[in-house]
Amino acid sequence: MTKEIKRIGVLTSGGDAPGMNACIRAVVRTAIYNDIEVFGIKYGYEGLIDNNMCRMESKSVAHIIQRGGTILKTARSEAFRTKEGREKAYENIKKNNIDALIVIGGDGTFTGAEIFSNEHNIPIVGAPGTIDNDLYGTDFTIGYDTAINTVIEAVDKIRDTAASHSRLFFIEVMGRDAGFIALRSGIAVGAEAILIPETKTYINELIEHLENGRRKNKTSGIIIVAEGEEEGGAFEIAKKVKERFNYYDTRVSILGHLQRGGSPSCMDRVLASTLGYESVNALIAGKTKVMIGQVNKDITHTPFKKAIKHTVEIDIKMLEMSYILSI
Ligand code: F6P
Repeated sequence: MTKEIKRIGVLTSGGDAPGMNACIRAVVRTAIYNDIEVFGIKYGYEGLIDNNMCRMESKSVAHIIQRGGTILKTARSEAFRTKEGREKAYENIKKNNIDALIVIGGDGTFTGAEIFSNEHNIPIVGAPGTIDNDLYGTDFTIGYDTAINTVIEAVDKIRDTAASHSRLFFIEVMGRDAGFIALRSGIAVGAEAILIPETKTYINELIEHLENGRRKNKTSGIIIVAEGEEEGGAFEIAKKVKERFNYYDTRVSILGHLQRGGSPSCMDRVLASTLGYESVNALIAGKTKVMIGQVNKDITHTPFKKAIKHTVEIDIKMLEMSYILSI
């Protein structure tokens, strides 16, 4: 029989994502509603190891739904990768009478959670918080919608200057080794090409596409390059294209960490609230080692092992569509 949950710990780990605060708020308030105490753990798994945590009340999460980043702070904990680190973390869990954990993060967070739960038999449920959208078992991860909207706002601005100067821009977006940010934002900005890690980059084809555009009197262009793209990113692609196609003046722009910040979109606030709320419900229902997601509006429980990357596939049809729409 599963032990009754009286106190849970909540943490955010890995890269921050807009909407994490909305998720923390939902976790805290749903737990309190169910007479469960909540401990907020600071700096992700680091806070478990360092015993850096404190009790949260309903008021602790007031006015945070609209804020980017994470009030609990975050980290990519090296110490938690070690058995000693995890043992220390478990000691602190026992010391603070924590019965279960809710972890908000991406694949690294869930990988750690799976190992930790197996070693110490503590129930853990995860909420997908990453701008990368690279987790299986949810249509969207918390933060993705805000990030792609940030990208399109930035690229629309670059489009103005690209058109004015008749330039070709290579714009690099985040996503680590996944191309979801690049693909969706690339379609939304009407990019001339989108280069992602999931498909091979053919420089010849790219140049041919640009040549065709030039013949149709295109005077400027936007190429969206995912940071994990196989040729090595926007600078590398720009160099290779320029060597053989120099009709346009070219520029490279790396959007970088601005993609992770900002006030979450409505989509992200609602998704984060829903998944935070459902994470607590899942723990109460006795679930463990699962990520809570939403697929076609339905709430899903996906084992961590399945949720973590390389099992989620990119929609190649969308890439084909973007190519046709940019001729
Ligand atoms: O996973 C989120 C993410 O922003 C990736 O898109 C990116 O590759 C990485 O984190 C950057 O990490 P850091 O902030 O540690 O440099």
